[in-house]
Amino acid sequence: MENLYIKGGRELSGSLEVVTAKNALLPILAGCIISNSNVIIHKVARFSDVIYMTKILESLGCGIKWDGDTLVIDTSCANSYVVKDEFTKKVRSSIFMLGPLISRFGRARVAYPGGCNIGNRPIDLHIKGLKALNVKIEERHGYIYCDGRNMKSGEVHLDFPSVGATENIMMASVMLKGTTTIYNSAREPEIVDLQDFLNSMGCKVSGAGTSTIVINGVDSTLGSEYTPIKDRIVAGTYMIACAMCGGDICLNGANKEHNQALITKLNQTGVRIKCRGDTIEVVSKTRPKSISIIDTQPYPGFPTDLQNQILAMQTISRGTSLVVENLFESRFKIVNELTRMGASVTIKDRMAIINGVSKLYGASVVASDLRGGAGLVLAGLVAEGYTTIEDVYHIDRGYLSIEEDLCKLGAEIKRCNSET
Ligand code: UD1
Repeated sequence: MENLYIKGGRELSGSLEVVTAKNALLPILAGCIISNSNVIIHKVARFSDVIYMTKILESLGCGIKWDGDTLVIDTSCANSYVVKDEFTKKVRSSIFMLGPLISRFGRARVAYPGGCNIGNRPIDLHIKGLKALNVKIEERHGYIYCDGRNMKSGEVHLDFPSVGATENIMMASVMLKGTTTIYNSAREPEIVDLQDFLNSMGCKVSGAGTSTIVINGVDSTLGSEYTPIKDRIVAGTYMIACAMCGGDICLNGANKEHNQALITKLNQTGVRIKCRGDTIEVVSKTRPKSISIIDTQPYPGFPTDLQNQILAMQTISRGTSLVVENLFESRFKIVNELTRMGASVTIKDRMAIINGVSKLYGASVVASDLRGGAGLVLAGLVAEGYTTIEDVYHIDRGYLSIEEDLCKLGAEIKRCNSET
């Protein structure tokens, strides 16, 4: 087991290149199988879930070749529509295979993904959307069997703009005769990126980024060469880190628009954000002011994936803050650990009330999920003394090497085996 050791109290400075977005890569990798020739993806960040997705593609018969950070996927030999259980247990995004497998083979079998550390994560909207397009679905013994051989284009009305459901339904319908329309679709930048990727393979998808996506079915697809967008959550995490620690950092390759909800909030705290081209600069000189209310919403609202990090920031800000989590019910696990570091936080249902303190103290804490773990790292960076973070593997799911990134920005943080 590995731990992170942080000596708090250093200001941040310097610049960093933002990594390719995990949440863009995962559906794009699943979508490769819609093509039946070579798909080349550039700047692939080797997040653990990304590696599992390549293993899923391999197990379905695809050829996988790495050339540095370029991934070449030969999908011409794909020969199975069954995703093995060993992968579904490890990577929730195996559910993204449903739509592409239905497109390619007319059928799909995937084990039901379990709940996860941030709450119960149902897939009823994925199922309901596919059923609306005449996919026959049976859920038996923990498996989802989809038969899309009589699938028809049509209209899907999502009860909630689910990111995964929107992506699955887009990918399932690209080769249907006629036009499919998804209403109340999610509007995240990763959905626009998936649309661009699908269109690079010859598909005809439009409207992504709005709440109505239109898919005109095509008879065949092509190979593709594609570079996905950068990770707005990783960029956002380091923006908050600088706001908390003080200093001056530049994030290269960051997209201002994708982080607008965060920028609007940080502008209320006394932190200065300057955007030039694809660089975001964060300048923080004094202890930040509290943000009176932050409530998570689907994009373009404040992202739930930055909630724990901004909550960590509120614990050392001047004043009182209210954080409301509207998407995932178990996303306040970080609070117990922050309390051990001296934070003053009260939880009421989906609300956290935070009274900013002038100082946190280093402690031994445990990461219990990906973004909560990142929030603890940020708290460790400002705390007095040393912080040890256990169960770092959660953080590694969404940050290639958080300690290397932060060291480049001047933090004192290292990874060690817990025995050493
Ligand atoms: C994606 C992101 C995740 C992010 C989340 C919300 C990926 C790989 N993951 O997850 O990092 O936190 O969007 O921005 O892109 N829901 C249902 N039924 C469904 C599907 C979802 O009730 O069938 C609910 C969920 O429980 C949750 C909400 O809808 O409350 C949002 O979920 P969704 O947008 O689907 O998130 P994911 O695609 O799982």
